[in-house]
Amino acid sequence: MAVTTSVHGMWTTRLAFILAATGSAVGLGNIWKFPYIAGENGGGAFVLVYILCVSMIGIPIMMAEILVGRRGRQSPINTMRTLAYEEGRHGFWQLVGWGGVIAGFLIISYYSVIAGWAIAYTFRALGGTFTSLTGETATDLFNALLGDPERLLAWHTIFMVMTIIVISRGVRSGLEQAVRVLMPLLFVLLLVLVGYALTSGRFMDGIEFLFVPDFGALSAGAVITAMGHAFFTLSLGMGAIMMYGSYLPASASIARSSLIIALMDTMVALLAGMAIFPIVFANGLEPEAGPGLVFLTLPIAFGNMPGGLLFGTLFFVLLVFAAWTSAISLIEPAVAWLVENQGIERVRAAVYVGIVAWLLGIVTIMSFSDWAFTFDFAGEAKTGGVFDLLDILTANFMLPLGGLAMALFAGWFMSRESTRDELAMGQGLTYRLWRVMIRYIAPLAVVLVFFNAIGLM
Ligand code: PFF
Repeated sequence: MAVTTSVHGMWTTRLAFILAATGSAVGLGNIWKFPYIAGENGGGAFVLVYILCVSMIGIPIMMAEILVGRRGRQSPINTMRTLAYEEGRHGFWQLVGWGGVIAGFLIISYYSVIAGWAIAYTFRALGGTFTSLTGETATDLFNALLGDPERLLAWHTIFMVMTIIVISRGVRSGLEQAVRVLMPLLFVLLLVLVGYALTSGRFMDGIEFLFVPDFGALSAGAVITAMGHAFFTLSLGMGAIMMYGSYLPASASIARSSLIIALMDTMVALLAGMAIFPIVFANGLEPEAGPGLVFLTLPIAFGNMPGGLLFGTLFFVLLVFAAWTSAISLIEPAVAWLVENQGIERVRAAVYVGIVAWLLGIVTIMSFSDWAFTFDFAGEAKTGGVFDLLDILTANFMLPLGGLAMALFAGWFMSRESTRDELAMGQGLTYRLWRVMIRYIAPLAVVLVFFNAIGLM
């Protein structure tokens, strides 16, 4: 019989869970990463593949992660082991949890550095630096930040400390309230930015770039990047959502929660794209500008719109918050495991994890200046050195592999009774649909994309 509560605490309501999981899902992935990878990979066709992956692979796997988490009620490592034994399977399933913890460390190490850029830009916005910015001056401003490792280190440190503080107090305190207010506000500000993009004179070019697919431009690298991003943006494949599911009350509907989370996440990404690409085209910037894209375009918008000082500052503050609520979920599985297995108090566990992640982050910081190198991924030149390597390794490979393993576990290695019981769906059509998706469609799609990427298809 499943345990009914987690030793780390519980969400008070289903809404609290949805808010926290949305806080995890909506982050730099939506506003910083989605636009730049859409730009690098030719727009429309890439966006379509991404949306397909979110709905066909992401939503069923999110349901699987939540149900596994809620049934196990522990950190992903212990949850996977407990459930594997409960289902009469081998204990090696806990390796899925270990893979997730490692992926979490690798992702937070660069995620925190990029969140640091957002903190830096908050102060730039407040100080009026964006006034009358052009494409050229915006580029200079951004490059000055990247070329200054000491400044990057300072912001990275501040962000990591912020993350450790929240984690050490337990994910629930403060998080619910913060997300409840800040998410809607972020949404409104994105609408303001889309409003500005409407006046840029190139709005329709931006929309066309994002939504009119040109399949000729779709490389194998683009397809695997789109799939990897579906996992990354929904926080899937590493146990973050599994962890949050372990705090979910037994009565809440998993299917409905997953749909809501995925829908909100996708809307934020698309709004960000709709705000950014018209500004790209109107200011002579390149859609392929890479990781700096958001930091090049939005300051131009803020610097040239009425109320830009206020809107700009508020926007970057919210971006930092969105990153913060995601960063927490990236290391919560590692912290929970230390508490469960090593008997370390939460505060100390959070500090240990934070120190390791902070040290790893230094590699990313240096990869934008002294340690920079270029390499090829699926025919595209990547100039971000270790940062790009980490991103490709985690988002394009580790998360989809972790997600694949979870799909196989929930679809093939857990009994029909266990999953149906946990999803509380009865014999209905929705349950059967989910089971087909998790057993066949999602795993097959992941495998096909991998085959495609290594040139087997
Ligand atoms: N979903 C977050 C974003 O889009 O920014 C990033 C993330 C958080 C990825 C947690 C993975 C994760 F487990």
